[in-house]
Formats: sequence, C-alpha cells, structure tokens
Amino acid sequence: MGDQINLKVLLESQTLERCPFPIPTGWYFVDYADTLKAGEMRNVTLFGQEWVLFRTESGKPGMSDPYCPHLGAHMGHGGKVCGEHIRCPFHHWEYDTAGWCKNIPYAKVTPPIVKKQAILRTLPMVEKYGMMWAWYHPLCEAPSFELPYIPEIEDATGYTGSRRGSWTADTCIQEIAENGVDVAHLKFLHGAPGIPPVSASYDGPVMKLDIGQGYIVGTAYGPGLNVMRFNQHGITATMISYTQPISAEQSRMNMSFRHVDYAEGTPELHASKKVIDHMIGAAEGEESAGFESVDFIVWNNKKYRPNPLLCDGDGPVLQFRKWFKQFYPAADAATLAKI
Ligand code: FES
Ligand SMILES: [Fe+2]
Repeated sequence: MGDQINLKVLLESQTLERCPFPIPTGWYFVDYADTLKAGEMRNVTLFGQEWVLFRTESGKPGMSDPYCPHLGAHMGHGGKVCGEHIRCPFHHWEYDTAGWCKNIPYAKVTPPIVKKQAILRTLPMVEKYGMMWAWYHPLCEAPSFELPYIPEIEDATGYTGSRRGSWTADTCIQEIAENGVDVAHLKFLHGAPGIPPVSASYDGPVMKLDIGQGYIVGTAYGPGLNVMRFNQHGITATMISYTQPISAEQSRMNMSFRHVDYAEGTPELHASKKVIDHMIGAAEGEESAGFESVDFIVWNNKKYRPNPLLCDGDGPVLQFRKWFKQFYPAADAATLAKI
C-alpha cells in the first residue's frame, strides 16, 4: 500500500460556499448624479437591503433605511422630501440626511433619544465624478478614508470619453476584485499572449497593481473604486471601475472609459479608442475575449476556495485576500476563517 491519500482535498468541495462574505466596508457608487433631481426620492437595493435615496431641495443627496423608527412605515412608499428633510407618510415625522429626527408635528414631549442621536440609519454620502457615493459600514461607523482625485473624470478640459457600461454578476464583490491579481487567467480565459508579470503593493485601503511592467497600472481605493490605466501605443486609456454590492451574492459592475482629449484624426485618438474597444472586448478582428462574456461564466458558477491550491505562475492571490479582510470589520472569527 502506498501513502494514505489526502481525502480532505478530494472532499472539500462539498463544504464550499459561493460567497461566504459579509458586505465589505467602503465607498460605493450609488448612481449618476443627474439621475436624481432636488426634491426627488426613489427606492434602491444595495448592500443586501432596500434604501430610500433622496435629494433635498437645496441639492444634498441622502440615503436612508426605509423603515421609519416611529411605527415602521416604508418611507419610500408615499414619503416625500420636505425642504432639507425626508418625511414619513404615516404620521409626518421628518428626518435630515444624517438621520436626526427634526420634526414630530403633534408631539409636545419627544422621546429623549431623539435629542441625543440620529434614530434613522442613513449613509454618509458625497458627490464626486458626477456620481453619488455612499459609505457603507456594517456598524454605522464614519468613513475611514476619502475618495481620491481622478483627473480623467474631474478635469473636464483635458480628458474625454462618454463610453460607460453596467453588468450584473451573480457573485460577491471580493470574487470580482480578485480577478485583478489573477494574472494567469488573462492568458487562459481571456486569450492574452502570455502571463504578464505582476507586482502589488498595499497601503491601508489602497492597493496598487502593476501588470506587465507598466502595461496596466491600477489603484484600488477600497472595494468600490478601481482606476486602471492602460499604457499602450504611446497613449494612456483609463478604465474607472466602480462595482456595487447589490447583495452578498450579486454585484453590479460599472465602468467609465476615458482618455486624453486628442484632436480629431490624430493617431493618438485612434490608438486611445482602440485600447478602449479592446478593454470592452468590442474591437473587430481581436482574438482577445472581453471580460463581460468570459469572466461572467466563471463568476456566476464558481465556488470560493478559502484554501486554494496555488502554483508559482499564479498572481498574489493570498496577499490580495489578506488585504481585503480589512473590509470586514464586523466579521466574527468563524466567518473570517472561511474567507
Ligand atoms: S411610522 Fe413614520 S411617522 Fe409614524
Ligand atoms: Fe478577467
């Protein structure tokens, strides 16, 4: 008889889960700023629940838990924006964008907690890049980092590009993000000519990736924003990617593609458009498969292996996972052991 076989490796898949992760903490894209006018409100599903998204009369965006702390009415069904507040339809209690109850129209004595703290859960929001962003933390803590300056979408005079897209994947945000460090799949799933070298560095919520020695340089700012610059043919084309966790098992990937505002007819403009076509997988005559077709087949069906068998050609998958764990601040030891 030879050595005993390792049964664990053969049977482990029976216990695997698709997405054993809580929703990670971070800044997340909610929607484009111009989709919500002053005084408007609507219901959105993000972070595994429904929220009421609204904009006050002065233009400030707000995002609140739907269920009124009074008697639980859903404020996104019949509620409205009143000045700087959101008003519940049931008894007209009003809340500001920070969740403080600002008016109970018939109360002579308000419950003491109303004066002490916010009683409605709301998410911190900022508007940047022409988008609304919300800070998600499972225990309602304040933002621990800021969104960066991105010249490609903030300096409107030097850059251009209106192409953008959204794709929904049936997996969690960590599995999608792991794709960035998994350089071996670029060759075998996407048909790249080789496996590019990769180097990664980590600094708090920021991860920097260099794929192919400057060919693709990416920076992730937490789980919800990734800026990737593709340097090719003497130009740089930029993909800004902002994935949303819809639930623990579903994510919406959103991307904008930008490049320097080169003059019409120049080779630089042609090259920029070509690189962006290639990123989207739309270029004619290209062998490479765009992410939207091939990655999704993998993501929508795979399970997560907490103890993967890795080899020397793989990218820094375990380093990436260690970095990503910081975004699960409320996870208990048993959950962390699974991820
Ligand atoms: S349930 Fe909202 S004001 Fe009463
Ligand atoms: Fe991929």
